[in-house]
Amino acid sequence: MSKRMKICINTGGGDAPGLNAVIEAVTMAAYNRQWEVYGIKCGYTGLLNTDEIITLTPEKVNGIASVGGTILGTTNKGNPFMMPVCNAAGESELRDLSDRVMDNFRRLRFDALVAVGGDGSLDIAHRFAEKGMPVIGVPKTIDNDMGGTVITFGFDTAVSIATEAIDRLHSTAKSHDRVMVVEVMGRNAGFIALNSGISGNADVILIPEIPFEIDKICDKIMDNELHGHKYAIVVVAEGALPKGGDVISKGTGEAGRQHVVLGGIADYLSKEISRRTGKDSRSMVLGHLLRGGSPTTFDRLLSLRFGAAAVRAIEMGKFDHMVALHSPEIAMIPLGEALGIQKRVRPDGDVVLTGRDMGICFGD
Ligand code: F6P
Repeated sequence: MSKRMKICINTGGGDAPGLNAVIEAVTMAAYNRQWEVYGIKCGYTGLLNTDEIITLTPEKVNGIASVGGTILGTTNKGNPFMMPVCNAAGESELRDLSDRVMDNFRRLRFDALVAVGGDGSLDIAHRFAEKGMPVIGVPKTIDNDMGGTVITFGFDTAVSIATEAIDRLHSTAKSHDRVMVVEVMGRNAGFIALNSGISGNADVILIPEIPFEIDKICDKIMDNELHGHKYAIVVVAEGALPKGGDVISKGTGEAGRQHVVLGGIADYLSKEISRRTGKDSRSMVLGHLLRGGSPTTFDRLLSLRFGAAAVRAIEMGKFDHMVALHSPEIAMIPLGEALGIQKRVRPDGDVVLTGRDMGICFGD
């Protein structure tokens, strides 16, 4: 008979629809093997202050797969290798508390950790694996920028929400002959903007991988006008940037954050388009709406498959690996390998070509 394991799971980084489905699948797959499962609250925080650990049982997780967010909580400021702590002088400084996490993990006699996160959280997981922690990674992010997997869960839901919003904006933009500039998340990857923009019949799509020229955008809008199409929908990724220019950022935000906070490009473009074309223009930011609510069926199933596969990976002893979708199967690939790949939209890929064939302007 195989060993009765004691495993734990945490969710780190920005939340994404499907996190609860992973938690449900991990709990059920472990329970059906007579293993014990624990949930670590708020990323790695629960392994620093161990009163933040809860027992997971079938009763606790039953039906949570359809619910957005994460019952374990999450943070994108909780890197134990660089934790903001208050020093004796009352100032915040970054300290390496990873040994405390390792000590607690061993003291609690955990056999494995399932770390669910994007590139930042999985990089932390990989560093713990190098310190000797048996870790399995599960890739999540609405941005879909994780290498090594065809897709991450959360992305399909984010694209669906963005597409529905764009569909709705057509009628109001048309009624007022306006330009609507819609900003979507995605950090330095344009997948959400590209997929929702094409599906939502946008006139212009701007992504980080194809730097734009404002003149090209205005030419497209005025050309539409000449052909009797008096309104326009511009979908812009938060990380889009002008040729030779830079992204618009709000700085690094809170102490201990790994990434800068992007945002503001839609407002900038809307004003600039209005100034140059004389057309009425409005901007809107979909922001965190893309991360909220119930996962699509695709994301729910992918998350459940990832969760169950993570438990199988533990059973096989395949640590420091990440579960990944290699369609149609779930594969297990070394975490270090996946983290070395930055996934971005291919400007010459078929999705961009589809957009171009449909007459969509990419601002280049
Ligand atoms: O990585 C996921 C993501 O939603 C990005 O698309 C976005 O830039 C960032 O997180 C926002 O982070 P926060 O929730 O800290 O504002």
